[in-house]
Amino acid sequence: MKAAVYYETGGPEVFRYEDVPDPTCHPRGIVIRVEAVSIEGGDVLSRAGGVLATTPHVVGYQAAGEIIEVGAEVTDRAVGQRVVTVSPFGSHAELRSVPSHSSWLIPDGLSTEEAACVPIPFGTADDCLFEFGRLQAGETVLIQAATSGVGLAGVQLAKRAGATVIGTSSSDEKLERLKEYGLDHPVNYRSGDVVREVMNLTDGRGCDLVVDSVGGEVLQGSLAVLGYRGRAITVGNVSRSDGRGVDVGGLSQGNRSLTGVYLGAELEPHRGPRAYDMIARDLADVATGELRAVIDRRFPLAEAQAAHEYIESRRAFGRVVLVP
Ligand SMILES: NC(=O)c1ccc[n+]([C@@H]2O[C@H](COP(=O)([O-])OP(=O)(O)OC[C@H]3O[C@@H](n4cnc5c(N)ncnc54)[C@H](OP(=O)(O)O)[C@@H]3O)[C@@H](O)[C@H]2O)c1
Repeated sequence: MKAAVYYETGGPEVFRYEDVPDPTCHPRGIVIRVEAVSIEGGDVLSRAGGVLATTPHVVGYQAAGEIIEVGAEVTDRAVGQRVVTVSPFGSHAELRSVPSHSSWLIPDGLSTEEAACVPIPFGTADDCLFEFGRLQAGETVLIQAATSGVGLAGVQLAKRAGATVIGTSSSDEKLERLKEYGLDHPVNYRSGDVVREVMNLTDGRGCDLVVDSVGGEVLQGSLAVLGYRGRAITVGNVSRSDGRGVDVGGLSQGNRSLTGVYLGAELEPHRGPRAYDMIARDLADVATGELRAVIDRRFPLAEAQAAHEYIESRRAFGRVVLVP
């Protein structure tokens, strides 16, 4: 099969489009013919640095397509079904082999391409807001990097739950577009002091919840805008900061908290079906149009380098999809 591979981490130019051996099917697994790859924030971070799990490496968490092979022990999947899959790597390829439990059937009425963009962003945002963030109707939530995949999902889910939604981005134009998805108060972090603006927007009270996928100095600001009993969720490090030096000194006075969230830990099979069911509900809600998977642009798989460059240019609003 063809795949977008790299032999060392670095900038988008590390990608090569090459022939690699077809993946084999595990007895408890499936193989899909990939039709759409959603490039996740984590894919960009993995490509940029860190340890290679394989050489050459096929990066990528999330892809959807049609099942072409089913392992001997799998009873709940069949050849020809459309599924979306999540796995630590291997999405940037024509074929993908995953454990069958790491796949969700794509509901009727939902395109394979849209489905490719749902499990990680929506599952992560859902867990940040509700399972760990305990968001209630009437509360105020700040979503940092609100135009990101996790952010766009979070804005929609929070608004639907009856919260007031504040969101940050580097771009006024992207913030304007976010209003259509439920953003109440846009904050451009390039043109203002986010902490001061958020405190003004909440009449000095602060936020009940902050979802932070940026890290570093932004995370420090997220702690500074927490109100009484406010909860901050750290879920990512898109700023690629070294993560050191966050001062938690102000948390205890207001019974505030900082919690880390990692969807992957919730999807470990021994933890039970909760997170799998949550993602199945998110897929169903995107299928009915109640929630929206936003796709910005498509690139051929052979142009993975250009697709990653485009994401890093910060112009994307929604997901960038690779098509094998
Ligand atoms: N813990 C988990 O389970 C989990 C799950 C999913 C993702 N994540 C993590 O969450 C983060 C976001 O993932 P995603 O898929 O939502 O990302 P994404 O869709 O690629 O969005 C990234 C966006 O973040 C914004 N941003 C803010 N500060 C930035 C900076 N310093 N550098 C680059 N971009 C910056 C940019 O939007 P603006 O220019 O509009 O601000 C950018 O477009 C990643 O670190 C990812 O690894 C964690």
